[in-house]
Amino acid sequence: MAVRIAPSILSADFARLSDEIAMCEAGGADWIHIDVMDGHFVPNLTFGAKVIETVRRLTSLPLDVHLMVLEPEKYFESFAKAGATTMTIHVETAPHLHRQLMRIKELGCRAGAVVNPATPVEALSDVMADLDLLLVMSVNPGFSAQSFIPSSIGKIARAREMLDAARGAADLEVDGGIGRDTIRDVWRAGADTFVAGNAIFSAKDPRAEIDVLRKLCSETA
Ligand code: DX5
Ligand code: ZN
Repeated sequence: MAVRIAPSILSADFARLSDEIAMCEAGGADWIHIDVMDGHFVPNLTFGAKVIETVRRLTSLPLDVHLMVLEPEKYFESFAKAGATTMTIHVETAPHLHRQLMRIKELGCRAGAVVNPATPVEALSDVMADLDLLLVMSVNPGFSAQSFIPSSIGKIARAREMLDAARGAADLEVDGGIGRDTIRDVWRAGADTFVAGNAIFSAKDPRAEIDVLRKLCSETA
């Protein structure tokens, strides 16, 4: 199974954003992960359409946009226009999840759904076949550089079983506390896509770190 590494620009140096993105590309990053936070759903504020559009001009890599906002549907159109490839919304903010996923697809983007650490992945059981991406949070969303929550491993394994049983083709992504010490267990549990912020951008050689993480996802590593 292909392994995808998605550096999160939440940990990038924004004074040098263009260099940081170029570094991710040179290191073989598969996607760029963009964390949108509204200061309501999560206790932090980040960026919106303007930054998505800026990153879109800096790279041709897919943009993996993670919406940590209340009423995410308010932003679908502008984010799609700004160049989002995937938009992933929290089930905790989406009372009409199916409708919201369909709307994302209508706008020409890939549709993802994400569960917080305290939300069972079973909350997504009836939309398994509709998902292009299923994201399991392995920290409480809001900040980079938090510690990986160990119970996420079992949750990823359950998500893998549920996707396989539903013949779902969704990517299975994990976000939060991913680094050298955690990525392998998560990969073994069945994840194929790994967000990493702190582990990449605070590494001595960030470019090489992408490859280090990828190589840990193999039986022989
Ligand atoms: C957390 C964000 C993550 C964050 C991950 O709320 O959704 O994408 O950037 O950062 P690390 O990899 O440092 O835990
Ligand atoms: Zn994220």
